Amino acid sequence: MNYQKPKGTRDILPSNSAVWQFMEEKAREVATKYSYQQIRTPTFEDSALFLRSVGDSSDIVNKEMYQFKDRGDRSLALRPEGTAGVVRAIVENGLLNEALPLKVFYFANCFRYENPQAGRYREFEQFGAECFGIDAPCADVELIALAKNYLENLGIKNSKLLINSIGCKKCRAEFNRAMREFANKHKTELCADCLRRAELNPMRMLDCKNEDCQKVLKNAPKLKDYLCSECREHFDEVCRLLNALKINYQITDNLVRGLDYYTKTVFEFENTVGDKTLTVCGGGRYDDLVQEIGGKDCPALGFSCGLDRLEGLVDKNLLPNQPKILVINAGNVTLEQVLPIAEKLRVLGKNIEINLANRSFNAQLKYANKLGIDEVYIIGDEELKNKSVTIKNMTTGEQITKNFDF
Ligand code: HAM
Repeated sequence: MNYQKPKGTRDILPSNSAVWQFMEEKAREVATKYSYQQIRTPTFEDSALFLRSVGDSSDIVNKEMYQFKDRGDRSLALRPEGTAGVVRAIVENGLLNEALPLKVFYFANCFRYENPQAGRYREFEQFGAECFGIDAPCADVELIALAKNYLENLGIKNSKLLINSIGCKKCRAEFNRAMREFANKHKTELCADCLRRAELNPMRMLDCKNEDCQKVLKNAPKLKDYLCSECREHFDEVCRLLNALKINYQITDNLVRGLDYYTKTVFEFENTVGDKTLTVCGGGRYDDLVQEIGGKDCPALGFSCGLDRLEGLVDKNLLPNQPKILVINAGNVTLEQVLPIAEKLRVLGKNIEINLANRSFNAQLKYANKLGIDEVYIIGDEELKNKSVTIKNMTTGEQITKNFDF
């Protein structure tokens, strides 16, 4: 029986792992610069948590969640995204009783039963950041700057930032009423999903991918015409501060995001490769969520980047390039004699491979070529006697002998 990976999943093979390590390192580095600390939460949570937060009008919960009963008859779900678990964890652990803002970042493997295609998987990895306790627009802009800096640190320079405000509960109620009216007028032209959303969360109709619906929805009410003065001012201030930081953005009226918890600012970074546009990062405010899942009234905001989508966009020239070294035992020198020398070189910070397969001298050189080794350190009888090492540069063929205290 030959087993294959489940549909929509990926193997990240050793040849690709340098890119992943780079994406993770840069994420840690940039998040730390903005005073975010790492949080790790479980891969699965109570299903009800996602139902309550991501929302039962979202496709993520409705159609895509990996939900199951465990042996104790508990209804659990593999996390479809990182935010809900993080909010649950900070509420459960009382972290909001400490000095605010609380800023956390995470890496989360997420699961969605989607139709797999390029950049869309059933298991994928997110780097996310969440900030709790601040409602001022400065926090929105600092968070957007973090995401932008992260992308730029990966060498991704041509991302487009789309932003919008979807208002608060108060102004959304007005908008929802107008949208329901609109849906009612056009019910024969809209798909079943739109009609369901018109009942549950009318704003989400704007996110419908059906082209016929999109044509109809072009004439739908616009969120921006329904914002209350507080939300309007908040959004204007976000735009003003983005301008001050010289961050380019495009206000996008129908950007509503695919999760139900958002309020006020929402944003996405997208990248176009060939004729394909991928959202590489998405986020926004969720000022009501903490309270909705049992915490105190606490504004919050965050984003997550899809690392599987960034992988192909990373500038590979930026990957750290530490020389790979093969220590070759030559003449009568045994592997046992080379072992402590290799250990010492590793302590000195070098990346060392040794002749574990017990190849002949020539076979070791061939192996070094095949592996793309940068330098070989040859330890033969002379070198052992003189406490030296002969270093051969595999690209130029240049060879020097150096003293080495092993
Ligand atoms: P999201 O837009 O659902 O937001 O996902 C964030 C990012 O994850 C997307 O922009 C995309 O890059 C990546 N992503 C989503 N689905 C897939 C998939 N099937 N395959 C590969 N990559 C994918 C959230 O998850 C929110 N939790 C973001 C957030 C954090 N909002 C506030 N805080």
